[in-house]
Formats: sequence, structure tokens, C-alpha cells
Amino acid sequence: MEILLDTANIVAIKKYVDVINLAGVTTNPTIVKKEGKIDFFNHMKEIRQIIGQNAKLHVQAVGKTKDEFVQDAYTIWDEIDKDVYVKIPTTEQGLAAIKTLKNEGRRITATGVYTEFQAYMAMTCGADYIAPYYNRMRNMNIDAAAFIRNVANQIERDHSKSKILAASFHNVEEVNNAIRNGAQAITMGPDVMASGLGMPAIDKAVDDFKSDWESVYGKGSSIT
Ligand code: E4P
Repeated sequence: MEILLDTANIVAIKKYVDVINLAGVTTNPTIVKKEGKIDFFNHMKEIRQIIGQNAKLHVQAVGKTKDEFVQDAYTIWDEIDKDVYVKIPTTEQGLAAIKTLKNEGRRITATGVYTEFQAYMAMTCGADYIAPYYNRMRNMNIDAAAFIRNVANQIERDHSKSKILAASFHNVEEVNNAIRNGAQAITMGPDVMASGLGMPAIDKAVDDFKSDWESVYGKGSSIT
């Protein structure tokens, strides 16, 4: 299982690099916009430095045609590094770009996935990751959990190297369901991560242990 952060926020990335074995970071133009008018490539390079070369950095191409996606991809690899997974939307034009770039052995994430059909087409093009938008699918009355289950089964049947990188999570329950149903990787915003780890019940358990200890061994005492 791979857990990634869906953010371009340096503070959040630094924080969670120290908290979990972060598998990587995903961004898109909407996520980048939240940071203001950043120096894009330098910012991405800074994220790379924080997460390390072995972690996976996914950066989105912004074009709309095959040629624009391919050109964006080359620019991203030239300006950041060749290990970046370039995110390309799973449209006809995007699939044509994915097919071309995978034939060159490049790293690609097929994004903007709402349907199983898109996922299967991305698999045939050899996309390394397939990124379904979990919450957006649910909002469209699409069964996102069934999507993940079915695509994960197909990956297994085909012995495909593609992995599901589920994205667009708005709460922890959605994350759990995606993992439970077979997503090999998930990416969530720092807000969802924080809400999953900062539950009042967890805080209460920690407080209770501390106060029970102190009630026996004295206020302010600790094990060390
Ligand atoms: C992933 O990179 C997706 O673009 C992203 O998770 C979408 O999330 P949203 O539906 O919250 O915008």
C-alpha cells in the first residue's frame, strides 16, 4: 500500500514526511493554485528534495491535445527530473499521449478517471498509475468502491503492472473504502490526513494514559 499527499504545501509535506512513510506527493493545477503564484518548477524541485528521489512525485500536464500533453511531459521531466510521474487526463487525446510516452518507457499516471472504461483503456496503454476521483464519482452517483474492486480484479487477471492511485478524498471513510476495495495507492489532502489522526477519542486515550500514570507515580513524572 502506498500513501501519498495530494498537496503542494511545503509545510504539510515536511510535517507528514516525519509522521508516516510517505510514498509520494500528487499535484494538479488546482492544488498548485492554492499556494499562490509560486515559482512552479523550483517549488516542485523543493518538494522532490523533501520527499526524496525514491518517493513518487506526480505532476500534471496542462495541455489538451496529444502534442500539448507530450510537450508538457518533456518540459516537466527536463525542468524537474526524469523520475516524475506525469499525470495525463484519460481522454482520447490523453490516451494517445500516454501510449506514445509509455512506448518510450516514461513514467505516467492516467488521471481524471471517472469510469471503469477509462481505466481499462489506460491499462492497455500501460499507464503506471490510474487515478480515479473517488469523491467526485460518488457525487455523480457512481459506485466508487465497486469501480476500484472491478479495476483491481482486472489488474490481477491481466497481471498488469498498472496500479490504482485513488484520489479526490473528502473524508477518512472514503480512504478506508478505497484501500479495502483494492486501491494499491491512495492520495489524500493534509486536511483528510489530519482528521484521521486527530480524533477526540484518540486524544482522550492518550490523556487518560498520562493522567493514570501521573496518579500513581506523581504529577509531571514520566517513564524516562
Ligand atoms: C488528484 O490529483 C486529483 O486531481 C484530486 O485528488 C482531485 O481532488 P478534488 O476532487 O478534491 O478536487
